[in-house]
Amino acid sequence: MDKLGGSVALVTGAGRGVGAATALKLAREGAAVVVNDLDAAEARATVSQIQSEGLTALGCPGSVTEPDFPQVLIQSALDEFGHLDILVNNAGYIWNGAMHNHSDEQWQAMLDIHMTAPFRILRAWSDWLRPTAKAEIEASGVARCRKVVNISSVSGTRGSATQIAYAAGKAGIVGLTKTLAKEWGRYNVTVNCVAFGHIDTRLTQSYEDNPPSISVGDRQHRVGLSSAQVDASRRNSPLHRIGSPEDGAGAIYLFCIPESDFITGEILTCSGGA
Ligand SMILES: NC(=O)c1ccc[n+]([C@@H]2O[C@H](COP(=O)([O-])OP(=O)(O)OC[C@H]3O[C@@H](n4cnc5c(N)ncnc54)[C@H](O)[C@@H]3O)[C@@H](O)[C@H]2O)c1
Repeated sequence: MDKLGGSVALVTGAGRGVGAATALKLAREGAAVVVNDLDAAEARATVSQIQSEGLTALGCPGSVTEPDFPQVLIQSALDEFGHLDILVNNAGYIWNGAMHNHSDEQWQAMLDIHMTAPFRILRAWSDWLRPTAKAEIEASGVARCRKVVNISSVSGTRGSATQIAYAAGKAGIVGLTKTLAKEWGRYNVTVNCVAFGHIDTRLTQSYEDNPPSISVGDRQHRVGLSSAQVDASRRNSPLHRIGSPEDGAGAIYLFCIPESDFITGEILTCSGGA
């Protein structure tokens, strides 16, 4: 399969989980992939895996919430490959707690990673995208179809107790998606969003035996779910299972292929029907 041959894709948070599976999927379908993650070793591992299959990847580790990093990220892709056609804003994490226990820092961190970082990355891309698309339209009447896939959550589209800041961030990216779809239609860019239900990654691992925590910068966050919650997710899905990272990557992929060139401003729920 080579549906994405000749394309360059950028996936943030591609060191593990859904992002890593997406980077691999897009590479296997022919795209050259820029692999970003906060954790440099994990980004390197994804790049190595792609390259070991004889496919093309470039690592660009760093935090997407650093104000100047989005410009670096976009420029690295353009310097290496000369163009950038698919942008997947996937990097994210949870920082849960009851509403009354949420700190200002927690609230801001969730908005920074799930709304501000995608906004800055897309704005940085626009410096290259707009003149490029305009030149293509002038030359041939139509710009190449390019793709944005943002990642939301059913927490953002339906609400989820103990995730007030996370849910606000994941709802915000829906508004960004729908608005940018209207603005960038003229450049033939489709802008869509995948809202995940329960996907089996380090954020959702069962914690009875060994309560997991993740480090984000110098902070540690407890993540994971009780096995009762994992069982409930399984029961709530008509498919009677939770999603794999590859299921998540498959949903993202649908918005990257030419068959979705007339779909924009949409939110696709990937939750096994839960
Ligand atoms: N797993 C689920 O059930 C689920 C449900 C709904 C939405 N999501 C969303 O899916 C996306 C992928 O999450 P996942 O489940 O694969 O989690 P994951 O923890 O396996 O992967 C997320 C990756 O993002 C990276 N990351 C975090 N902050 C970053 C930053 N500032 N800069 C660059 N990289 C950063 C992490 O290092 C990690 O490798 C996230 O946006 C998450 O909110 C996941």
